[in-house]
Amino acid sequence: MQQAEFIAGLPKSELHLHIEGTLEPEMVFRLAARNRLELPFPTVEALRSAYAFDDLQSFLDLYYHATQVLVRAQDFHDLAGAYLARARADNVRHAEIFFDPQAHLRRGVALAAVMDGLTAALDAAARDGGPTSRLIMCFLRDLDEADALATLDAIYPWLNRVTGVGLDSAEAGHPPEKFARVFTRARAMGLRTVAHAGEEGPAAYVTQALDVLKAERIDHGVRAIDDAALVARLARERTPLTVCPLSNIRLRVYPRLSAHPIKRLMDAGVVVTINSDDPAYFGGYVNENYRAVAEAFSIGRAELAQLARNSFEASFLSASEKEARIAEVEAYVSASGAD
Ligand code: ADE
Ligand code: ZN
Repeated sequence: MQQAEFIAGLPKSELHLHIEGTLEPEMVFRLAARNRLELPFPTVEALRSAYAFDDLQSFLDLYYHATQVLVRAQDFHDLAGAYLARARADNVRHAEIFFDPQAHLRRGVALAAVMDGLTAALDAAARDGGPTSRLIMCFLRDLDEADALATLDAIYPWLNRVTGVGLDSAEAGHPPEKFARVFTRARAMGLRTVAHAGEEGPAAYVTQALDVLKAERIDHGVRAIDDAALVARLARERTPLTVCPLSNIRLRVYPRLSAHPIKRLMDAGVVVTINSDDPAYFGGYVNENYRAVAEAFSIGRAELAQLARNSFEASFLSASEKEARIAEVEAYVSASGAD
């Protein structure tokens, strides 16, 4: 069996995926037509050719612009349905999906449209044997604390459908400590906690996310590599990093994969997972991220299987669910034979 085939069949979980980042250009056009909206791009190809980014902000500008085509519950339903079908093709068995409520609320889209559409698609996929899933609402860190607190209040009617809170958007100059009280309140509401940190921001933001926000997972976290004591702490405390290799290249966090710290983090004993972040924009869904890393670092099946185990271990599934999913990985590895 070839490496790509091994990766394709490997049961895996995806833990760092922005549902708005799965908006493919074709769907942008379809939804714009359905909602009678004008787009500043004449064709799908013209939009796709705009997907060349200098940094995180230049990506976010286009990402938020494209979300304008998401208006009704049906739009959110179609978006999540398409992602889950695509994830299923990559043998994603479980997905913990980020969404950005403030990006929709500030355009006048009601939270009910977002939640009704997303939850209907998630439930349908799970019923149909597709990936199981959880939702994580992210706060936009370039907005203020009051806006985040109001958004947290607004989610009350759907509290049973939201597993946790996260922190995303423009990182530089927006340290985790800005959201200390928001995360304290979220934890008191029984929500789990994750945070983007150490993508464009420094290693110190990772430390803050751990100490101040009590983040249970760090999204990206790659800049932790600049602080050896922090890397040792992540390994010792088994705090997972949800790493997004192709995203980091497209947003120029690293110039090429061979310069990416993922292998050094793995070798240091950190619980690393591989994820796609915003796959419509970054040139690959989760299996393409696994393949790129395997190729760049000559990673074999034992380490690929460990990355898949990590993806379940680091999830918010229950202990028994984790055990069952990891058993699927073991069964697959034994059925696949030697390298
Ligand atoms: N929102 C969507 N993708 C993001 C990323 N990679 N970093 C921060 N915010 C995001
Ligand atoms: Zn992200």
